[in-house]
Amino acid sequence: MNFLSKEIKGMDNFVVIVNHLYVKFGNFYAVSDVSFSVRCGEIFGFLGANGAGKTTTIRVLCGLIVPTSGEVIIDSEYFIKGKENRIKQKVGYMSQKFTLYDDLSIEENLDFTAALRQIPADVYSARKKQLFEFIGFNKSSDIIIADLPGGQKQEIALIASILHDPQIVFLDEPTAGVAPASRMRFWDLVKKLSQTGKTIFVTTHYMDEAEHCNRIALMRTGELIALDTPENLKKNTYQKQIYLLTPKDKNCQGVLINRAQEYFSMFEPYGRHFHAIVRDDITEEKVVGIVTDICFVKKIEPSLEDVFVKLVEEGITQ
Ligand SMILES: Nc1ncnc2c1ncn2[C@@H]1O[C@H](COP(=O)(O)OP(=O)(O)O)[C@@H](O)[C@H]1O
Ligand SMILES: [Mg+2]
Repeated sequence: MNFLSKEIKGMDNFVVIVNHLYVKFGNFYAVSDVSFSVRCGEIFGFLGANGAGKTTTIRVLCGLIVPTSGEVIIDSEYFIKGKENRIKQKVGYMSQKFTLYDDLSIEENLDFTAALRQIPADVYSARKKQLFEFIGFNKSSDIIIADLPGGQKQEIALIASILHDPQIVFLDEPTAGVAPASRMRFWDLVKKLSQTGKTIFVTTHYMDEAEHCNRIALMRTGELIALDTPENLKKNTYQKQIYLLTPKDKNCQGVLINRAQEYFSMFEPYGRHFHAIVRDDITEEKVVGIVTDICFVKKIEPSLEDVFVKLVEEGITQ
């Protein structure tokens, strides 16, 4: 599917343009015919199950691997094989697993990044101060990375990735395994960064985080299957009403689960509740009438989680 915006005439407003991107490992396509564009200043969410091709796409967009075919333009710079360094200079990259040296201090890590990025000493010094202020860091920068709590480690990784002041920053699962309060703090920083005009390209498995994105791209087995705002994805993915069912007790829950297939085309557990859609071959009134005996029944709007389940995990596209 081609999600390249029709608005692209000049490229002024777009900081990432991807056109018919393919990445092949051996005989296997990790990314297949992916096209999209990202606007300057946007928080662009890149979602999909493990193995969907998110990290591979990001690696291409950071100039780290050469695409098998397709066009990639980053901040007006075309991806040209052999000239990947031009792309690398344009982007910040916080990788999925490794960004900081655990056994070095904060200061040493930033010094090292500054050296790699060839940032002049005076610029580096001012920038470091500014970025510590940005994340509200007021401890000693001699602390060893391994001794920092997970959330703070990720904040330091974030500032290391934007030390050279790139227009766009790629954050690959930056909050994986981070405590909820720290995840919220991290997202406050992401939003603050985007308000300064930076473009954020971010992957996450947390749907509450995806809600903060201006637009979301959904990947499934190497293909881009949807791209829209969170609101539109929720509005357009489901044609039918979703019901929130809360069994009245354990017994009722058992009965509901046993009969679910008979009544529902979608039936997903959410804690002690279920999100359900009535099958096409039975009327909603009839089903609601029946399950009201064993459940509290409420009409709800779909969540991003529902959208994700339908488009990515069930593999149903519309
Ligand atoms: N260097 C590589 N060589 C071979 N296969 C790879 C390589 N990198 C990734 N893959 C495969 O490509 C697919 C997509 O991986 P990845 O982009 O890491 O997905 P995601 O980030 O969405 O979890 C997976 O099946 C993965 O095993
Ligand atoms: Mg990944």
